[in-house]
Amino acid sequence: MHRITLTVNGRRRTAEVEDRTLLVELLREGLRLTGAHIGCDTAQCGACTVLLDGHAVKSCSVLAVQADGRRVTTVEGLAKGKRLHPVQAALKAEHGLQCGFCTPGLVLGLVDLLVEQPDPTTEQVRAALDGHLCRCTGYQHIVDAALTAAKALRETGAREGPEPALRELG
Ligand code: FES
Ligand code: FES
Repeated sequence: MHRITLTVNGRRRTAEVEDRTLLVELLREGLRLTGAHIGCDTAQCGACTVLLDGHAVKSCSVLAVQADGRRVTTVEGLAKGKRLHPVQAALKAEHGLQCGFCTPGLVLGLVDLLVEQPDPTTEQVRAALDGHLCRCTGYQHIVDAALTAAKALRETGAREGPEPALRELG
């Protein structure tokens, strides 16, 4: 067993994990943060996507011990009270979700994209959605939501990375 300490959604957390414990298992079972979903467990569907030190990763392909000393952001860490993060708000406004299973992972993937590409083209959004499988929406509404969120984020000037963006816009 390993004792690890990480910062999850701004809160310092300590956990005992095995060599083989996946980050998604730690989040869901150890820390009771069930927003990261398990759709495939083989790094294909994107439902388990979280931010690790600000970059989107599939948490089913990261060992919990690899997150030791690092920052993790899950979908639970985005909204401020009842105020949704602009990516969440845009997905809601543009009807970018139906069953919602893929949505938490998509949200974190789009947050990462919009930090790297504040003014993405439709093609860049579509490329960023590679690796996020959605069986419901047909993707067009997700693309529309990403472009809407990008505009909202640009208008509020948050371009300095996920943490400032979350602090100022979430
Ligand atoms: Fe991780 Fe599908 S559960 S990519
Ligand atoms: Fe159902 Fe994407 S909204 S899988």
